[in-house]
Order: sequence, then structure tokens, then C-alpha cells
Amino acid sequence: MKIAILHHDVESPEGYFAKLFREYSCDVDFFDIRAVCWEELISYDLVFNRVYSSVAPRDFESLEKTIEILKKLENVGTLCVNSSSASLVDYSKYELYKALSNNDIFTPETILIDSKKDFLTSVDKAIGLFGFPIVAKRNCGGKSYEVYRVNSREKLIKKLKDMFSVADKEGYKSGFILQEFIKANRSHDCRIGVVDGKFLFAYSRTFVSRDSNDKWIASTSNGSIENNFEPTREEIELAIKAKEVTNVMYGESDVIMTDKGPCLIEINPSPGYFLDSLDDLERMKMIVDSLVKKIKQPIISIVLEENEEIASIVSEEEILSTAN
Ligand SMILES: Nc1ncnc2c1ncn2[C@@H]1O[C@H](COP(=O)(O)OP(=O)(O)O)[C@@H](O)[C@H]1O
Ligand SMILES: [Mg+2]
Repeated sequence: MKIAILHHDVESPEGYFAKLFREYSCDVDFFDIRAVCWEELISYDLVFNRVYSSVAPRDFESLEKTIEILKKLENVGTLCVNSSSASLVDYSKYELYKALSNNDIFTPETILIDSKKDFLTSVDKAIGLFGFPIVAKRNCGGKSYEVYRVNSREKLIKKLKDMFSVADKEGYKSGFILQEFIKANRSHDCRIGVVDGKFLFAYSRTFVSRDSNDKWIASTSNGSIENNFEPTREEIELAIKAKEVTNVMYGESDVIMTDKGPCLIEINPSPGYFLDSLDDLERMKMIVDSLVKKIKQPIISIVLEENEEIASIVSEEEILSTAN
């Protein structure tokens, strides 16, 4: 089996993913999204997209190129995990919101601000619909970069102006979103890993503070502590359904428990991992095991079909010989 790992700057998980695939005797090659042509990837059994949404602040064009390449590969039948449509919801939280809310999945109400021109209209609309606090963040982001919570119109306007000016400096062009704040009734969230519609693992992350004294943000790269956690059936079903409606074959969902039931904050189709965490190593192994099984599936069904054909030839011969 041939695996292509599509990446931007190579981060440590990619080397470990390659090692795990090689343990299954897969040939693994790395392709930098900035240099690759899609034709180079056609002959692979799996193109594993590890171009993170967090690349957006430094190289937004590469995310657009990733989507284009995945679309071309899918058109010629190459298996891409995740697919172009799944990667689109990875690179646009607003697209994710639309996909989830159109399918009645509980997720924060969201308003897109795509230009500075009339952002005040969006601010007033958000205040009217959500009240305070309001969460403001980049439409394409990751690792909790530029995720804020604000408590007044004045602070929200100031925060958005600052966010626009940081974006201008970085060349980030994918807009911002305003969200209703979802109040958790636990002191942690829950991250749920799913591959190919099956629950793989879950863990919790404690909330840490930002822009307030109370703790509300779950982010391991910003200091949340991970703990073992068994999610409820409702939480698992929510994570599976969310991945199904967004075409995400492999991803980790962030779920917050509220008085109205579990709420899906986001899906991460290209999550990061820490190699000094034994839990992360174990999770990566489970993911590779499931992906290898998935790639082998068509081969297994061809073998089964061939066996069925042989079986039917044998039984025809048997019938003939008994008749003779
Ligand atoms: N609307 C919201 N209501 C409550 N908490 C939120 C909301 N949006 C984000 N958070 C908290 O902030 C964290 C980071 O936000 P997220 O949208 O996942 O950004 P990133 O893509 O940077 O991880 C989430 O895991 C969640 O704990
Ligand atoms: Mg997140």
C-alpha cells in the first residue's frame, strides 16, 4: 500500500504517522503542499491530508491549494482522508456551522464577518440575537489562536478592529465569526475521535481562562489538562452524526455538555498530537489501524467476489459432473 502524507511545514506527528503506516509495510512519501502537483499523488492508495487549518495566519493560499488538489484527486478516484468537502469545513468554521445547523445538530449560532466594510451591522445583529458574552474568532484557525470572549459592544468593536489589523499584517483573508457563548455545565469539554463512522476514543480537557476570570476555553496547547473520560451515548452519537453530515472520515470533535444537552463546538479533521503524550501515541495508532483497515476493505471485497465466482464455477462443475 502506498500512502502520501500531504503537509505544510512538517510537524512531529507526521513522522510518527509515517512510522505507524510503515509498520503495516506501507510505502510512505511526504509531499509539501507548496511544491506538489496533483498528478504526483494519483497513484497512491491514500492521500492523508495533514495540512493544518492553523497554517492560515502564515500561508492561506496553501489551504486553498489543498482543497483544489483534493478535489482533482477525488475526481479520478483517489482516496483522500480527509476529503475536499471535509477539509473545507476544517478551513472554514462558518461552512461547518452551516453544515451542522442545516442538519439540526446543536452548535453555537454563528454570524460571518467577511469584510471590514460593514462589520458594525454584524456586531449589532450578533448582540441582538445572542446577547453577551459573544465569542469572536477567525473563520479559519486552530490551536485557539485569536479566539476571544467579550462582554460589551465597545469591547467587541475594539477587539474586531485589532483582529482585522493583525489579519492585514499576516495576509490572512478568510474572515471572522461571531458566536453565541455556550455555557458548559461541567468544568471540562470532551474530545471524541471517530474514524469511518466508528467511535475510537474520548478524553476531556479542563477549561482555562482567557479574557475573563472564569475558565471557559479548552485547549491543550494553551494549558488544558487532559483526563480519561467516558462520554455519554448522546455525546458519541452527536460526534458521529456531525462527522457523517460533513463527510469527515477521520476527525476529533469538541463537545461541551450544557443544560440543553451536548453541543458541538467544532470538528477537527486534522488535529495536532504531542509525541511526549503516551495517550496521543495510542490515539494515533488507533487512527492508523482504522485507516489501514479502510484501505484494505476494497481489496478484501474483490477477493470475496472472486471467491464467490470460483465457488459458483465449482458448483456448476459439480452439477455437471453429477448430471453426467
Ligand atoms: N461559542 C463558544 N461557546 C463556548 N465556548 C467556546 C465557543 N467557541 C469556542 N469555545 C471554546 O474555545 C475553544 C477553542 O475554540 P475553537 O473554535 O475550537 O478554536 P480553534 O479552532 O482555535 O481550536 C473550544 O474548544 C471551546 O472550549
Ligand atoms: Mg478547537
